[in-house]
Amino acid sequence: MPIQLREKTVANTMRVVGLISGTSVDGIDAALVDVTGDASRLAVQTVAAATYPYPDALRSHILQVCGGAALALTEFAELDEAIARQFAKAALQVQQGQAPAQLIGSHGQTVFHRPRGATQGADWLVPPPPDDAPRLAPSDPAPRAELAYSLQLGRGDLIAHLTQIPTVSNFRAADIAAGGEGAPMVSGLDVALLRHPTRDRCVQNIGGIGNVTVLPAGDRPNALIQGWDTGPGNSLIDLAVERLSAGALTYDNDGAWARQGKPSLELVAEWLQQPYFRQSPPKSTGRELFGAAYLEQCWQAMAGRSLDPADMLATLTELTAASIAESYRQCLPSLPAEVLLCGGGSRNHYLRQRLQSNLAPAAVLTTDEAGVNADFKEAIAFAVLAYWRFTQTPGNVPAVTGARQAVLLGTLHTEPLLGLAHA
Ligand SMILES: Nc1ncnc2c1ncn2[C@@H]1O[C@H](COP(=O)(O)OP(=O)(O)OP(=O)(O)O)[C@@H](O)[C@H]1O
Ligand SMILES: [Mg+2]
Repeated sequence: MPIQLREKTVANTMRVVGLISGTSVDGIDAALVDVTGDASRLAVQTVAAATYPYPDALRSHILQVCGGAALALTEFAELDEAIARQFAKAALQVQQGQAPAQLIGSHGQTVFHRPRGATQGADWLVPPPPDDAPRLAPSDPAPRAELAYSLQLGRGDLIAHLTQIPTVSNFRAADIAAGGEGAPMVSGLDVALLRHPTRDRCVQNIGGIGNVTVLPAGDRPNALIQGWDTGPGNSLIDLAVERLSAGALTYDNDGAWARQGKPSLELVAEWLQQPYFRQSPPKSTGRELFGAAYLEQCWQAMAGRSLDPADMLATLTELTAASIAESYRQCLPSLPAEVLLCGGGSRNHYLRQRLQSNLAPAAVLTTDEAGVNADFKEAIAFAVLAYWRFTQTPGNVPAVTGARQAVLLGTLHTEPLLGLAHA
């Protein structure tokens, strides 16, 4: 007999766990939230939130895989499940002492992201060759991938099984199948919670990679919502800090090290000429481009100018700030009144200061100041996306991802519901 799922029933309030580990691989962000309403009248109350670091060996393995290390299929399955187990643990821990969640939304751990239209083969993984390098003849263009490809590990069915809570995962696939980038995915939440009635805003997440949602003021209802990945967030800074400290540090706390240096504005201006920064949205990227190989090229250029470690970090921090500001100038008719930061990079006060300088006269704030926790906005977003999947509400913003249409996002793993139905 078919199982009756009550997916369409919108509970007055639904308690949902949102889980994500981003491109920094710094740990699993978990948020326990109460969600009410539909996309146009959404209300979200955060009950609890925490970050659960990966065990060191698992983090190293994930970083190796993200960096291109080969995996046998058995190892792939084991890694997928090891990540799912950590996510399930995080989901249970964040609920401790609280009334239990009815649903989990798990983004999983991104290990690979190839944007739409990337050249097939590995050409797109590294920065373009110098101008005098031989190029393909125009009659022999490299084939291009028709659809984006994005892989998140930590399979949802195991999370559902271990927690006994229905779980939505694999959020990016449906947008990609509809011709979208599968990124950024959080713009729907930004639209629902952070649009200001009279002020144009940009919501800028600074994780490993940066991404923005452009929110025209509510009194301009027909103005276009836009969004794109801006390029490196903390990824290059983190890699450089690790290298400069011989592994002793993983990030530049508060930007204190970079603050002691002087950025090479000439190098930053040169790097901003690279194709990703000049490409029009929709566009997405990842550590595949802004990772170790990219840093190596920057490193050689910085060493060629005899920059000391603090100057190097100041220059890489400036690249993040300037690439964000430059993309706004390229893609928007004017700068917004406010830029609301979130993600770990919003904790780097030197980076914030450089953003303020690059974005003046826009006010640079954090989403905290608009009532949405800046450290956990991405985790909250995946709780809300799961809620939208459960209530049959499309979650992508096609103008942002480039998808042909709005679609339901995510796969709902219902094993716990099936268990209840048979009980
Ligand atoms: N106090 C701080 N000072 C400077 N940088 C910080 C601080 N706290 C966090 N960060 C930076 O933020 C990073 C983690 O940010 P976050 O968790 O938002 O990124 P992420 O996991 O890549 O997320 P996503 O890709 O989903 O946006 C760290 O790797 C570090 O570089
Ligand atoms: Mg993180």
